Amino acid sequence: MLASGGGSNLAALLAAHDDAAYGARVVGVVSDKPGAGVLELARRAGVPSVVVAPGDFADRAAWNRGLGEAVAVFQPDHVVLAGFMRILAPTFLEQFPGRVVNTHPALLPAFPGAHGVRDALAYGVRVTGCTVHVVDDGVDTGPIIAQTAVPVLDGDDEETLHERIKVAERSLLVETVGRIAREGLRVEGRQAVVGP
Ligand code: GRF
Repeated sequence: MLASGGGSNLAALLAAHDDAAYGARVVGVVSDKPGAGVLELARRAGVPSVVVAPGDFADRAAWNRGLGEAVAVFQPDHVVLAGFMRILAPTFLEQFPGRVVNTHPALLPAFPGAHGVRDALAYGVRVTGCTVHVVDDGVDTGPIIAQTAVPVLDGDDEETLHERIKVAERSLLVETVGRIAREGLRVEGRQAVVGP
């Protein structure tokens, strides 16, 4: 799992993976941020983690190569991004074709990018939500796997709305990652299909 934030999505996956029937296991955590909350979560769960910080590399291309090497060490079946706020280069995605999945706190294709919650609130939508999708070369543009709608309530600010979205997002991510681990993931054009 690639993550850089507080790690509520990682925490939900770590809780789920303790159940042998779940089917998925978090085999490693990679963050671009030294000291990110996700690293402490991984340590407490006994999951190996590594920091691959852009500042440690000559340029973005070298960082992407370093990231790919660090992730490959864990030999993951799938790579899950949650709050990993960096754009992955095609060279990284080519190492794990059709196997990189991201969660985004909006109903894509609406409100892609780093401020999906803020943008939805500013637009005045009455319903937003979260999306689990396959990562492609664009920003939040890959084939959609699953979505959950979340209401915007009067008086919401970015924080209250994002927290409400995160409750749905954690459930959707745990459910979707478990299905992918048990059944597999296939990408056919714009369609991402969970299943053999
Ligand atoms: C999630 O809402 C994710 O969709 C967004 O950043 C947030 C990360 O939250 N990209 P956490 O670090 O998993 O709590």
